Amino acid sequence: MSECKNWPEDPMEQLVWLHERQSGLRAIIAVHHTGRGPALGGCRFRQYDSEEDALADAMQLARSMTWKCALAGLPYGGGKAVLIAPPDMDGARRAAAFRALGRQIERMQGEYITGLDLGSQPSDMDEMRKETAYVTDTTGSLGATGDLTADMTAYGVYLAIRTAAGRRLGSADLQGRTVAVQGLGKVGSFLCGYLGKAGARLVVADLDGARVTRVRQMWGAAAAAVDTIHRTPCDVFAPCAVGGILSEQTVPELRCRIVAGAANNQLADPALADRLQARGILYAPDYVINSGGIIVTAVELAGGQAEQARIQTEAVPDTLTTVLDLAERTGTTTDAAAAALALERLGSG
Ligand code: NAI
Repeated sequence: MSECKNWPEDPMEQLVWLHERQSGLRAIIAVHHTGRGPALGGCRFRQYDSEEDALADAMQLARSMTWKCALAGLPYGGGKAVLIAPPDMDGARRAAAFRALGRQIERMQGEYITGLDLGSQPSDMDEMRKETAYVTDTTGSLGATGDLTADMTAYGVYLAIRTAAGRRLGSADLQGRTVAVQGLGKVGSFLCGYLGKAGARLVVADLDGARVTRVRQMWGAAAAAVDTIHRTPCDVFAPCAVGGILSEQTVPELRCRIVAGAANNQLADPALADRLQARGILYAPDYVINSGGIIVTAVELAGGQAEQARIQTEAVPDTLTTVLDLAERTGTTTDAAAAALALERLGSG
């Protein structure tokens, strides 16, 4: 067993290092928890500065997956595979690397089930499918294009924003409320659609100017700079880009009453949840509200249809309400309450 960097008391069940000579594949599979069922979590393909960074990423993401599945009531645990991508990995080597990863996943006999994540594509899942059945998001499947997973993730976040607004702003009605959305990729753009239709005033930022232009044209959004969007005076700040956006530097600069977004691992340090609370900002923990995507995967594994994923995603507000109630009752942060609830569900699962 190995310890997770930020949560030393929370070890992984299994860590697998893979080094396959023919393709040059270097990968780590982290299985955090299988007490409720097989570990679910996609396959991340990106460059890392070091193997230590890749390991820390794999462990942190695997742990979040466990908690996300537990809070969404899914019969799965959490895992993650990270492929350390060399800059020059071309088509044939890439295919060989994913097949090698598929063979390893097959050896794990269903303890870990993989799928799409940052940097991987349905064609990579197809390569793995040649070696293992324990892979989702292959070409033509429910989650293949990422559209449905991103849409359901955004839908859950939107419903959570309404719930948080009901608590902190006195009404779930978003008409005329200002929401600052950071990141207009797959999830952020769907989220702007839900918010725009609800009459929210949008302020948006993305590194990609074309995405900003599109959302401005569609929803009359105002644009902010990428390095100052978090400082926008607004009702809700919705981080939908990278992790770690809530940091020592940004938390004191926030001018919102609610933080609720899709980005994974928003808190650069768990202790920052106290700072948010002290500032009177309601923080909706990411792994409580961004479970729409993993719900799509679970529905796909059960042979279900898209509509079922939508119905299951509609439980996100109830889970958030339970977390907010628990935080109020116990005087803890929403993050601590979500962790306690996840651990309780893991214990009983
Ligand atoms: P994406 O890669 O499609 O979009 C990310 C967007 O953020 C891109 O448009 C990029 O240009 C922009 N961006 C990157 N750095 C930025 C910065 N510093 N400031 C402003 N914009 C920046 O990713 P996707 O799928 O939309 O995911 C967004 C977040 O939600 C990620 O943190 C992801 O881990 C998380 N998430 C995604 C799920 C999904 O179903 N796609 C499920 C659960 C969580």
